Amino acid sequence: MALLEISRVTHAYDSAHDFLRKPKQEPQAVVKDVSMTLEAGQCIGLLGGSGAGKSTLGKIMLGLQPPQSGSVLIHGKDMYTRDKRTKKQLRKHIQAVFQDCYSSVNSKMTAAQIISEPLDNFERLTSKEKKYRIGEALDMVGLPASAMNKLPKEFSGGQLQRINIARAVISNPSVIVLDEAVSSLDVANQVHIISVLRELKTQRDMSYIFITHNLKAAFALCDRWTVMDQGELCGSFSTKAEMKESEEVAVKQLMDASLSTRPEFGTIRKHRPFYADSGQRKGAWT
Ligand SMILES: Nc1ncnc2c1ncn2[C@@H]1O[C@H](COP(=O)(O)OP(=O)(O)OP(=O)(O)O)[C@@H](O)[C@H]1O
Ligand SMILES: [Mg+2]
Repeated sequence: MALLEISRVTHAYDSAHDFLRKPKQEPQAVVKDVSMTLEAGQCIGLLGGSGAGKSTLGKIMLGLQPPQSGSVLIHGKDMYTRDKRTKKQLRKHIQAVFQDCYSSVNSKMTAAQIISEPLDNFERLTSKEKKYRIGEALDMVGLPASAMNKLPKEFSGGQLQRINIARAVISNPSVIVLDEAVSSLDVANQVHIISVLRELKTQRDMSYIFITHNLKAAFALCDRWTVMDQGELCGSFSTKAEMKESEEVAVKQLMDASLSTRPEFGTIRKHRPFYADSGQRKGAWT
């Protein structure tokens, strides 16, 4: 049985209403008939351009956004069941790390309080056991035990994202959805967090859905890559070579963007500003 099984999921957000409470327009589906499975210990990179529907699909997987149709099964059980007890049990198996590390935490809580949230929700531990598990989780993400009593404002962005990862892994979930979780970090922090995630994957058999625009990070961490375009899955690949050979426009665009070396800088260098020859602001671009 697959760890996570998504079958024929479709979702459209409600469109805005005018003052007569009539929808302004028919809501458009942003996730269209998507099916995918994730096996234990597997990491799938969910790729695609902006607005492709990746985060919406991530939220649907997490149980945060009920889809209009289709099903999400974790260990064979329906994530959107009405049975509250089963739902709570399933939530223990799936955790999330989002891009904005600051808005993901309560600024008044210490690192220990933040990290232990899943323990408080899903496990009954003595305070000694809890402290041990928090120390273990901090160690896993490369932070010292002394970080426990600090507040979010006392951490750098990279350190705070490690706190978010420690919170996601502490209750040993089966799967973690990482939505642009390393995107706002500098390269050194990205490399470190990717290596932490790789270690957790091998040590704890963790599975990930890694949502990103960063193809390099996805190639470093994932063993399968799925591309979304306008709400649909347009390709699923298990090697980089397979992906390079794809004829799908969205896949080609993704590969071109990641393989070209810093195209934005190339464009700026080639482009001469209108005042370059007029003598104005001389030296500003040279
Ligand atoms: N809460 C919402 N209400 C209405 N529309 C939404 C909402 N969230 C997302 N959308 C719309 O759904 C579409 C898909 O958005 P989504 O955030 O899932 O894309 P994405 O692939 O994650 O994009 P990005 O790479 O920019 O994060 C977009 O057109 C977006 O405007
Ligand atoms: Mg997104």
